[in-house]
Amino acid sequence: MSKVTINTLQAHKQAGEKFAVITTYDATFAHLVEQAGIEVILVGDSLGMVLQGHQSTLPVSNDDMAYHIASVSRGCDAPLIIGDLPFGAYNTCEQALASSTVLMQSGAHMVKLEGGEWLLGTISALVERGIPVCAHLGLTPQSVNTLGGYKVQGREQSQAEQILEDAKRVEAAGASLLVLECVPADLAAQITQSLQIPVIGIGAGAGTDAQVLVLHDMLGLSKRLPKFVHNFMDSQSNIQAALSAYNSAVQDGSFPGPEHSF
Ligand code: KIV
Repeated sequence: MSKVTINTLQAHKQAGEKFAVITTYDATFAHLVEQAGIEVILVGDSLGMVLQGHQSTLPVSNDDMAYHIASVSRGCDAPLIIGDLPFGAYNTCEQALASSTVLMQSGAHMVKLEGGEWLLGTISALVERGIPVCAHLGLTPQSVNTLGGYKVQGREQSQAEQILEDAKRVEAAGASLLVLECVPADLAAQITQSLQIPVIGIGAGAGTDAQVLVLHDMLGLSKRLPKFVHNFMDSQSNIQAALSAYNSAVQDGSFPGPEHSF
């Protein structure tokens, strides 16, 4: 695999080629993910739940993120690495710049942050200073307490319009990628068609440009698998084959199916 950049992903969107993203937290898995041909790694703050055993992502610190980003970065050469800014690490623009600098110096090529309108100035400031941004809308797990649980977002017309509006505004502010989590498939498809930047879905149907899954979910290791997850270990004899099967299923459009969508 040659070095993956934002231009690679933009070219995929223009050519109508779907691509896979997966969360990864250490060097061993980063190597396996690269061997499977997966082009984008998200070092997600989901590590708070799947590695640290917390009930939410809220306890994860920026130092935790830096540690895992550095580990992933030592395990692979070509994939684009997105580092999640954790809860409380981007409350102000200045704090976002400081936290992102640490993640970029640890090996991230881009940072991800959760939210819409309140982050527009922060997104522009990061991009102006050479820090590419992946925005994240829909179900934003760091806001689980204000959302009242891990629920599908955008089922109501007004909420759907707000997510579409936010998506256009984060793109205009300079975001290079957008994650859409747990939104109805038709809304995700509409947003994907409305934006120039690649849209990565999780629980957002088959109409997005890319898919992301949490590693431990797609390997069937998590206690409870969300509806939008397929356990790729079910039909494979080893982890390397399961990762390759996930990559192929996203690229050929066979994952996600209607049974994984809202
Ligand atoms: O932290 C994470 O793993 C994420 C994905 C679920 C998109 O943000």
